[in-house]
Amino acid sequence: MALRYLSGVQPSGQLHLGNYFGAIRSHIENQDGAFYFIANYHALTTIQNAEVLRKNILDAACTYLALGLDPERATFYRQSDIPEVTELSWLLSTVTGMGLLERAHSFKEKKARGLPATMGLFTYPILMAADILLFDADVVPVGPDQVQHVEMTRDMATYFNTTYGETFKLPKFELGTPVPVPGLDGEKMSKSYGNFIPIFERGKALKKLVMSIKTDATPLEDPKDPEKCSVFALYRLFASPEQIEQMRQNYAGGNYGYGHAKLALLDVIQERFADAYAKYDHFQSHPDEVEDILRAGAKKARAVARNRLDAARKACGLD
Ligand code: TRP
Repeated sequence: MALRYLSGVQPSGQLHLGNYFGAIRSHIENQDGAFYFIANYHALTTIQNAEVLRKNILDAACTYLALGLDPERATFYRQSDIPEVTELSWLLSTVTGMGLLERAHSFKEKKARGLPATMGLFTYPILMAADILLFDADVVPVGPDQVQHVEMTRDMATYFNTTYGETFKLPKFELGTPVPVPGLDGEKMSKSYGNFIPIFERGKALKKLVMSIKTDATPLEDPKDPEKCSVFALYRLFASPEQIEQMRQNYAGGNYGYGHAKLALLDVIQERFADAYAKYDHFQSHPDEVEDILRAGAKKARAVARNRLDAARKACGLD
């Protein structure tokens, strides 16, 4: 049996190049038989504006579909269409110690950043464990910030299994090879730093962002060090080996300015996403199609979830 991949993406705003190279690309490469979903219940811990959330959910769905998620190959759904998730969360919360949740880095970090420490934020890892355990996931591909949550999922599955008998499979996390994606200011590209380039930014707005990438003050005539330049770091993510080699020579040769490099970067970004732009626009203007896809995905997902939830209910004596 092939391993079952499962992961969720929070609809927390426009997805950016950091999300693309960090997660989305590998989700799409590993989509056969996989379960991918839009974690909109989780998003309620940070977004409490209905209109914004609706827009972000559609945007996340259009992004995945445009970049090649195929609903025939993967099961693609909205978390909130699976009520079994919240029911299992309750069962798991009764075997999970507060101490485990108090050790979560993500909770501590969000609280320190000033997010309201609601029960939702505190019990976020339980909801995430339910997402994973309901579907017998083998592998959960995540970024480094989510590894602890997958480990906590294993802990919760173990508590449940030892209390009530073998019910849940223990998932493993998978950390892809880290791909450094610098943001406009040279720091890691991140939503919370406000230094990101949205995948589906286009035209003048995209050009403006690319031209604003921070570079050093080396004069135009002088040779430049590609290894110290964010423009080059981004360029190499998109360009072919020959293009990368050419760009290295341009940097080394002098008389090649950062402005030139930025225009070359703009070209390769637009080439990479040309097909995706067209698909994205199609889905954005046909939200009914997206809705149908997500509902069909939820139907498939719920059939699996129901089975596992029934087993869990039975194990606790709720059958
Ligand atoms: N917490 C994850 C994030 O912010 C999103 C998520 C929710 C998730 N449920 C999940 C990821 C289950 C993997 C598996 O990135």
